[in-house]
Amino acid sequence: MKKAVEKCKELIFGHVGVFIVLLCIIPFLFVGPELFRGIEVEQAPSESEDLIVVGVSQLGSESGWRTAHTLSIQEALTKDAGYFLIFNNARQMQENQIKAIRGFISQRADYIVFAPVVETGWETVLQEAKDADIPVIIIDRMVDVKDDSLYTTWIGTDAREEGKKAGRWLERYLRKKNRASEEINIVVLQGTPGSTAALGRTEGFEEIAALHDNWYILESMTGDFTAAKGKEAMREMLQRYPSINVLVSQNDDMTMGAIEAMREAGVSFGENGKVKVISFDATRDALEMVNNGQINVDIECNPKQGAYIDEIIRKLESGEPVEKSYIVEENVFTKDNVKEFLDSRTY
Ligand code: AHR
Repeated sequence: MKKAVEKCKELIFGHVGVFIVLLCIIPFLFVGPELFRGIEVEQAPSESEDLIVVGVSQLGSESGWRTAHTLSIQEALTKDAGYFLIFNNARQMQENQIKAIRGFISQRADYIVFAPVVETGWETVLQEAKDADIPVIIIDRMVDVKDDSLYTTWIGTDAREEGKKAGRWLERYLRKKNRASEEINIVVLQGTPGSTAALGRTEGFEEIAALHDNWYILESMTGDFTAAKGKEAMREMLQRYPSINVLVSQNDDMTMGAIEAMREAGVSFGENGKVKVISFDATRDALEMVNNGQINVDIECNPKQGAYIDEIIRKLESGEPVEKSYIVEENVFTKDNVKEFLDSRTY
């Protein structure tokens, strides 16, 4: 009888024990993934896989151009091509990029590739990468560091030249329309403050504007390279200045936002409108707007940088020397030449 009672106890408490354990585990199965959301866990390849480990810190996903830039990198650094890609999106925050780069260092990546959101503030983390003997390839925008041995090479676009191209186009346009000596009122939508693309395009355009004492830059406002902020800034400038002749918008996304603001304010724009529109990037949507006359000119910024990264890594792997900088080719699109490029534009 005693034995039977003991057996009963064992069964009951045994089941209660299992029940309690299940009670603890089941909610965790549902909530657990939530607890880890936002923490990126990357698996480094086993050594036998013999892949080149590349940590890429992309600055964000603020524009259509950026999406094309990311895709170009992901298409080049594939497993088939011999790479193990660790990709991180910094959401336009420098501190996230620094954190990601430190992560690549601690994972002992073979190469670090990064598109810096702004130019300054990189010395410490780049020194850490150098001390760890990891070559750094900078892409798209540039860093402002005294010691250029902190990075191996840079692949990007010439933002200052892009700005000058915009200014030269305006000179030619005004001459052609016999308006070269008219007073020309300009507003500028700038990209992310402190970024190479915003600094260079501003300097380049201002260099040409300084040659014309009848060009007035009424105001420059930042739109952070996004359509929403571009629209907001343009709306404010339209309220302040009734006599805008030219909009210089430092990327296509801000241009789209600004065009919405002009539509809402009943201000005409483009080929047959009051405000002439100069844009940068030359994404497919914007090129279509060049073709239909809504944007007067689009200065290309070339996002196809993935193949260059691949080529440079291959050279470094085989011990070949590489240049300190590579500038990708870029075009200028107006209604006169855009048609022939439209079909092949993939982004
Ligand atoms: O650095 C390149 C610029 O950044 C592109 O013009 C813009 O669209 C992007 O966000």
